[in-house]
Amino acid sequence: MDNNSPIGVFDSGVGGLTVVREILRVLPDENLIYLGDTARVPYGTKSSRTVINYSQSNARFLISKGVKLLVVACNTASAVALPSLRWDFEVPVIGVIEPGVRKAVKTTKRKKIGVIGTQSTIKSNAYKKAIENIAPEIEVYSKACPLFVPLAEEGWLEGEVVELIAGKYLESFKECGIDVLILGCTHYPLLKPVIKKVMGPEIELIDSATETALEIRRVLLENGLARTEANSPVLREFYLTDVSESFIRIAERFLGSRITQIELVDIKAEIG
Ligand code: DGL
Repeated sequence: MDNNSPIGVFDSGVGGLTVVREILRVLPDENLIYLGDTARVPYGTKSSRTVINYSQSNARFLISKGVKLLVVACNTASAVALPSLRWDFEVPVIGVIEPGVRKAVKTTKRKKIGVIGTQSTIKSNAYKKAIENIAPEIEVYSKACPLFVPLAEEGWLEGEVVELIAGKYLESFKECGIDVLILGCTHYPLLKPVIKKVMGPEIELIDSATETALEIRRVLLENGLARTEANSPVLREFYLTDVSESFIRIAERFLGSRITQIELVDIKAEIG
């Protein structure tokens, strides 16, 4: 492992490619390996114990590839597995919750923040705790929006059905006077236009992808880990634990560009 080793990113599936998109924009010269655990997705409806187990094996696979830094690009895995990953692995481990929370805390004027995410993320209270850690005076209102994940994967990003569902999920936020809403799930940035339409223009939507990419840059620089051989071609490897036509189609929507090569991986066989 050295400066020119890749950054390792994992997610429960292909949603984490919204984070990869930002990493590639902010750090275009860095080598990157992505692992999407498409065989075991979704994590958002599973118990903490299971998500921790899955996250551990994903991390071990990426570590076996020699990554210099680990990015947990899944909100659910960040919510429940980050402490154990930081404990078990020596490389810096960056999740998506802390960067998003810092931005939200800086943005709110009314000191009232809304958080939406999967059932497991909301149940873990990870966002609430992270906000309280840095700004205990802020009131936090949370809501699980489980149907947003399949809607984003199906590409139902606008229209009557998605507006109705978003309206139903988000109506409680209208009463609490929040001025900031954290999109606490990899899939939700795709639904930004409809969420904005339902919440109104005065509510700021926080998408942790950009903040996470900036945090990665900061940690690389602080640890003297930024890539130095900037003139040689960059490495981009995409591994999935299950590959289907639809995953590739969805993956390209999340990444915002073509993926020419995806490798199928059996994590168990790789890490033993
Ligand atoms: N990646 C998950 C998250 O950000 C959403 C999909 C899932 O439930 O696994 O929480």
